[in-house]
Parts: sequence; C-alpha cells; structure tokens
Amino acid sequence: LQHLLTTEGLPRDVITRILDTAEPFADVAEREVKKVPLLRGKSVFNLFFENSTRTRTTFEIAAKRLSADVINLNIATSSTNKGETLLDTVDNLAAMQADMFVVRHASSGAPYLIAQHLEATGRDHIHVVNAGDGRHAHPTQGLLDMYTIRHYKRDFTQLSVAVVGDILHSRVARSQIHALSTLGVPDLRAVAPKTLLPQDIERLGCRVFHDMREGLRGVDVVMMLRLQNERMQGSLLPSAQEYFKFFGLTEEKLALAKPDAIVLHPGPMNRGVEIDSAVADGRQAVILPQVTFGIAVRMAVMAMLGGGNA
Ligand code: CP
Repeated sequence: LQHLLTTEGLPRDVITRILDTAEPFADVAEREVKKVPLLRGKSVFNLFFENSTRTRTTFEIAAKRLSADVINLNIATSSTNKGETLLDTVDNLAAMQADMFVVRHASSGAPYLIAQHLEATGRDHIHVVNAGDGRHAHPTQGLLDMYTIRHYKRDFTQLSVAVVGDILHSRVARSQIHALSTLGVPDLRAVAPKTLLPQDIERLGCRVFHDMREGLRGVDVVMMLRLQNERMQGSLLPSAQEYFKFFGLTEEKLALAKPDAIVLHPGPMNRGVEIDSAVADGRQAVILPQVTFGIAVRMAVMAMLGGGNA
C-alpha cells in the first residue's frame, strides 16, 4: 500500500490482510506492553480540518503504539487561517520530514489532492491516510467496522447486513458498502428514506428498503448512521421526532433482526434521533468495541503503509 484513500476497489486480499494484521495489535492493546517498534523514527502528522473525537484520538494512540512521533496540527490556530493553501501547508510539513499525513477534510477529494501532489513532486515516500473526506470516504472507519463484524460473526459470506439511515451524506456508509460488497456479503440492505439515499445505491449492490421494519427482518448486523444535519439544507432536513419514529432504532424494531444480531454505530451518536438509548447501551450494541478495535486497525494500516514488517 502507498496510500489509503478509499475502500472502493480495495482488493479482498488487501482488506483481509489489514484485518489479519490488526489481530495481534488488538492483543497488544489489552496487554501490559503497549508498544511495538514498527514505526520508530517515523513522523505521523494528524491534519484534521474537521472535528473529530474517535478518529483523531485513535490515530494518535495507534501511531504512538507503533513508536512513531505524532504531531497534531491545531488547524484552528494554524496559518491556514491566514490564507495559506492546503498544499502549501503540506509542503511545509513535508519539509519537517513528515513520513505520513492522516487527513480529515470537509472537501471530498482533499486527501487525493495531497497524495497526487506528493507523488507529482517526487515525495512518494510520504504516505497519506484518508481520515474522512466530505461525504466521499472514511476508509479506516469502514475497515474497523469490518474487523468488528468479523470478530463477532466470522464469515462475511453467510451474513445479512443492513446499513440504516442517512446514507446519502455518509462517507462511512460508502466505505462500509464497498468493503462489505468486496468481502462477499450476499444480502446487503440499504434502509433509508428516499431523500437520504444516493442515486447509485443499487449499483453499489444494495437492496433498498424504505420500511425499516422490513429492512431489519432477519439480519445479522445492523449498521446505524448519524443523521448528518450539517450536510443538509432546507427541505431535506427531517425533524428529529419524525425521523426517530420511522428510522430510529428501538428495541421493538431490533427484535425483528436475528436474536444474536449486533448493532454498530460509527459515532457520534444522536440518541433519540437515529438510535434509542436502550439499544445504544443494550446487550447487542458493539459500539464501544468498535472504537477499541479502531486502534488496532489503524495500527495495521499505518504499519503496512510505513513499511514495517507487519
Ligand atoms: N466515527 C468517526 O469518524 O468519529 P469522529 O468524527 O469522532 O472521528
């Protein structure tokens, strides 16, 4: 791997290798000895132009557990506020001997722009990881979700999986759907109102359900999504109460899934909007294990990019 920008087109063997590589790192996280030397001497720059709690923090923990030096650029107090361009910022950080950029940006394609720029200027030893770009992709979230599903359910080729909610605006949903499809999930469902589905949803391999109860019937995995109000305007914006009534995950709706179905959510959650607290904190939720597995999966991605013998 040179960069990780999307799960679209990522071959099955590469996804599987990332998940396999993450397995022993998940053990590292649970043991006393928390560090491995795979990125010793390397510098990882976290460039988060959009807010984050889970992704930024787990990338930092992951890089530190690989023994890298981690630099978190504080965008709010950086010179981007004086008009410095994204690529000038990147050039200056590259001049500080960066080895890896972890990039979150509101604009779809920003991490691609950085990767292309580095390659075009002969600095292809610097790796780029997309930590979420606009509504396009969030590949490490998609991969940690695959790790979580594999941990609890083992065989993707036997599963019914429902991706539920605001799929239209969700970079997480796109990354999940590409990965689930590549891993051979035979029954992949998109459960959402018409207004919150992308036009190409069936081309992506999903069966569409506008009735949540029908969409959840008999599934093994329920992947909830946040209602992304910040990416909507005017008529698209449903009221929280109305949305919860039709697409909020309650215990009563979850009872239609298999009894051992698991519930994922990438966070941040809006309780009482897309998910009821009784489910979010209930026995079928694996939402906090997702966060923990995210450290191991991000360790695996960075170790494979950084050339460690992971
Ligand atoms: N899942 C996720 O991307 O969360 P953060 O926005 O907190 O990083």
